[in-house]
Amino acid sequence: MLSDGYHSVPNGKLAMVVTQLEMRARADTRPVPIPDSVALRPLTDVTLDQYRDIYRRVGEEWLWFSRLTMNDADLSAIIHDPKVQLFTLEHGGQTQALLELDYRTDGECELAFFGLTKELIGTGSGRYLMNFAINTVWDQPIKRFHLHTCTIDSPMALNFYARSGFTAMGRKIEVADDPRLTKGWDQKIAPQIPIVRP
Ligand SMILES: CC(C)(COP(=O)(O)OP(=O)(O)OC[C@H]1O[C@@H](n2cnc3c(N)ncnc32)[C@H](O)[C@@H]1OP(=O)(O)O)[C@@H](O)C(=O)NCCC(=O)NCCS
Repeated sequence: MLSDGYHSVPNGKLAMVVTQLEMRARADTRPVPIPDSVALRPLTDVTLDQYRDIYRRVGEEWLWFSRLTMNDADLSAIIHDPKVQLFTLEHGGQTQALLELDYRTDGECELAFFGLTKELIGTGSGRYLMNFAINTVWDQPIKRFHLHTCTIDSPMALNFYARSGFTAMGRKIEVADDPRLTKGWDQKIAPQIPIVRP
């Protein structure tokens, strides 16, 4: 049991509050058109390099690191699993979004990753992609659609998910190495999250 009050985090580490959210039945969606010059596309037969590229371009600004520190075999085992579905939004000849739906637990779908690059944030593309996700997932025989988001994700994310029909069910504290200190990342990435040096 975590006691009330402050808890010290070692310098060099990140500390996040993770909120777990879920949807137990298909939420109503407010249909929005896909923006001009944006196209939804399944990422079938994606290579590890292509996946890492879109994951990095969406998530680097928010210090998404989990998939970038995985070896080829472990990453392939997830993203090439037939129960994992990947989609993107294409714009300007490039992938500009990542939607990862993970059905590996029977009766459930995890929204494993959801995000847009800077090119598409604030264009209505996020709502379009979420509507697609909700309708795609609830066409399957599932009982629970769930996700987690954390305090170093976009500050838009939590309210966006609440407006999408997800309900907060729990919170966790996550502590992890800061990849800008331990993984050789450029230290200028994510200036909104200060580096605390050991
Ligand atoms: C979280 C995130 C997906 C939200 O996306 P967004 O860009 O704010 O999404 P949109 O622009 O589609 O939507 C914002 C709202 O403005 C509306 N909107 C914005 N521009 C619009 C436009 N041009 N036309 C119509 N509607 C528009 C949307 O309909 C939506 O309203 P609603 O939520 O009431 O339906 C996005 O900020 C993101 O990818 N962040 C980085 C990665 C991240 O943190 N992901 C979450 C990790 S768990």
